[in-house]
Amino acid sequence: MIKISPSVLACDFSKLGEEVRKVEDAGAEWLHLDVMDGMFVPNISFGPDVIRSVRKQSEMVFDVHLMIMDPIRYIDGFVKAGADLITFHYESCEDRMAVIEKIRAAGKKAAISLKPATPASVLEPFLPYLDMVLIMTVEPGFGGQKFMTDMMDKVRAVREMIKKSGRDIDVQVDGGINAETTKTAAAAGANVLVAGSSIFGAPDAAKAVLDIRSAAENSYCG
Ligand code: DX5
Ligand code: ZN
Repeated sequence: MIKISPSVLACDFSKLGEEVRKVEDAGAEWLHLDVMDGMFVPNISFGPDVIRSVRKQSEMVFDVHLMIMDPIRYIDGFVKAGADLITFHYESCEDRMAVIEKIRAAGKKAAISLKPATPASVLEPFLPYLDMVLIMTVEPGFGGQKFMTDMMDKVRAVREMIKKSGRDIDVQVDGGINAETTKTAAAAGANVLVAGSSIFGAPDAAKAVLDIRSAAENSYCG
């Protein structure tokens, strides 16, 4: 099933509640919340307190993308803040299984994200325990970058691995997603589309959500 996950990183933070309502009313099922610590990535965004206050305003699935070192330290905090799904980076810690276990023990969905240079093969031991895999289509850290088409081999490889596993695991893409690049990503096997600037930077955010959804539905070959 196709899911659209608008990234609030690109919204107007002075009216966060209103921005979130806009994409929820447009039918986006998920809300993508990018957490950056200035260490794992060279940028700082927001933490659990902001997520907790948005939680009161929205029924969407809260899709929390942790771009932080040693994520295990903060899993409890993000669970309490209202995360439904927590994604951490393969490159951000050593004991990935411990992080997955901690997320699952809290009754939440777990996902691993791969930076552009990290190959799909590292996922193999973790697939039986994951609900989603996030393939970054830009270097993490900033919104508004150009979609890396050369990540599509990795998306296809992950979709193949998932098919073989027999489990129902989502494949998410994040970075440079708009109605055009969605076609390429969905055709390669991505079914969860994260989009920041192409939604919140559009004159009509609701239309941008609908355009990404129809592009995904017409191109997805899962
Ligand atoms: C980048 C973040 C993305 C970002 C995407 O590190 O993970 O979620 O907000 O922004 P756009 O859609 O503008 O590339
Ligand atoms: Zn993200």
